[in-house]
Amino acid sequence: MKTIAHQQCLSPACNATYDIGQTLTGCQKCGELLDIRYDWDKAQLPKSLKEFEKRWHNRRFPLDHSGVWRFRDLLPFAADAMICTIGEGQTFLQNAQCLGHQLGMWPGQLYLQYEGLNPSGSFKDNGMTAAFTHARIVGARHVACASTGNTSASLALYAAQNGFQGIVFIGSGKVAFGKLSQALDYGAKTLQIAGDFDACLRRVRDVSAQLGLYLMNSVNPFRLEGQKTIMYRILEGLNWDVPDWIVVPGGNLGNCSAFGKAFEELLALGLIRKVPRLAIINAAGANTLNTVVNKLRVTWNNGNPDSQKIKALYAEMDAANYHPHTIASAIEISRPVNLKKALRALHIMNGIVAEVTDKQILEAKALIGRHGYGCEPASAATIAGLVDLLANGTISRRQRVACVLTGHGLKDPDATVHYHTGIPTKNAKQPPAEPTWGRLANKPIQVADDLPSIIAALGMSQNTLENSESTGYVETNTANLPFIEY
Ligand code: F0G
Repeated sequence: MKTIAHQQCLSPACNATYDIGQTLTGCQKCGELLDIRYDWDKAQLPKSLKEFEKRWHNRRFPLDHSGVWRFRDLLPFAADAMICTIGEGQTFLQNAQCLGHQLGMWPGQLYLQYEGLNPSGSFKDNGMTAAFTHARIVGARHVACASTGNTSASLALYAAQNGFQGIVFIGSGKVAFGKLSQALDYGAKTLQIAGDFDACLRRVRDVSAQLGLYLMNSVNPFRLEGQKTIMYRILEGLNWDVPDWIVVPGGNLGNCSAFGKAFEELLALGLIRKVPRLAIINAAGANTLNTVVNKLRVTWNNGNPDSQKIKALYAEMDAANYHPHTIASAIEISRPVNLKKALRALHIMNGIVAEVTDKQILEAKALIGRHGYGCEPASAATIAGLVDLLANGTISRRQRVACVLTGHGLKDPDATVHYHTGIPTKNAKQPPAEPTWGRLANKPIQVADDLPSIIAALGMSQNTLENSESTGYVETNTANLPFIEY
């Protein structure tokens, strides 16, 4: 491996560099975030992205099987022997024809990058494989994170498979059970802190510094290297064409930051000619990025975003004792640690930020589900945001859009069951008023245990069934699927 990797401060004014053998969560000189940078040896890189496809033919070799390490030439910081992989990133781009039609888009223009199909059920595995690889390089034994659930599930899984002790900090009562059950099952030491995610992250940073734990949150720049590959797979799904838009939910803003870096590098390496636009969708109840970008008008500004405005906003939040609240618990974050990197991604990708309400999120989630793609509420913020952006003309109905579905539907079954039945979730402060919620509600039908009642409840006659045998399928009534109104 000739390409040399190093860590580099995000701030152009500082620009300090560090060896990749160091375990850092920020610049030692100025405290800014760090990036992994490469002195690329172009002779070692594939001449075109298409060359990566050949590795699919070698699926018995773990590094080629992984949807992250298949692209290892584009994140070349580790020798092959050090890589911790469990076959993550076997996800691909789905053309969501019917859903796109439902949203009024031109045929074939809506794509879903279904990251819920990862080993722990969320996109986090893309980053975790990279961070665990670095943890192995530096000889770490104990790894820790704060989490709204998915990071902890992924950390716990990788720790268990690769011989590390996992330690996770979660906020009290905020983590969806699907995710909590994973951390517990995989044997991570789980600390429930009386506070929200932002408080947990502060604590885990302090504790890690004091005890020498290896920190796995997305301030770890190696995590973001792995998450770049989500974009490579989207390009691959489009036969290496670049879509018009990437849409992603924004929480701690690691994912969108990784996407920006992926495209910046591909462009600089001459592997793509244009960059897609980026839409980051906040939940209205956790909308720091939206406030910073759309209200305070803070921009990347060549690496010098207006930090004073951000500090003043945080001081205001503290004074008002503000805590974020959204049904999309995965993105219930008010102090996103990657805020500056997200501003850079918005600059690189000519991006925009929008916010959506919990009601929009739940309706979008149900619509996604009805089309056969399960996802958790945070992921559905993408489609909820897309609906608004199509309606206000920011995204044209003719454009090609790839939405990242970040987490699997089974991560948060409470939210889904509540939507369909009205049984309250533990995250909902007050049960939502019917019938504004649950337009696609699919309630179980209570029925006595006798044949005539069951047949009556199914609402099907012998006739329908006979016809269906001859035609091969039962015609489903899609007339009651409401179109989104603009
Ligand atoms: N979607 C899901 C399903 C998530 O779990 C997260 C983040 C996001 C979106 C937001 O991604 O932070 O990169 O902007 N979950 C973190 C966690 C915070 O702890 O699991 P981001």
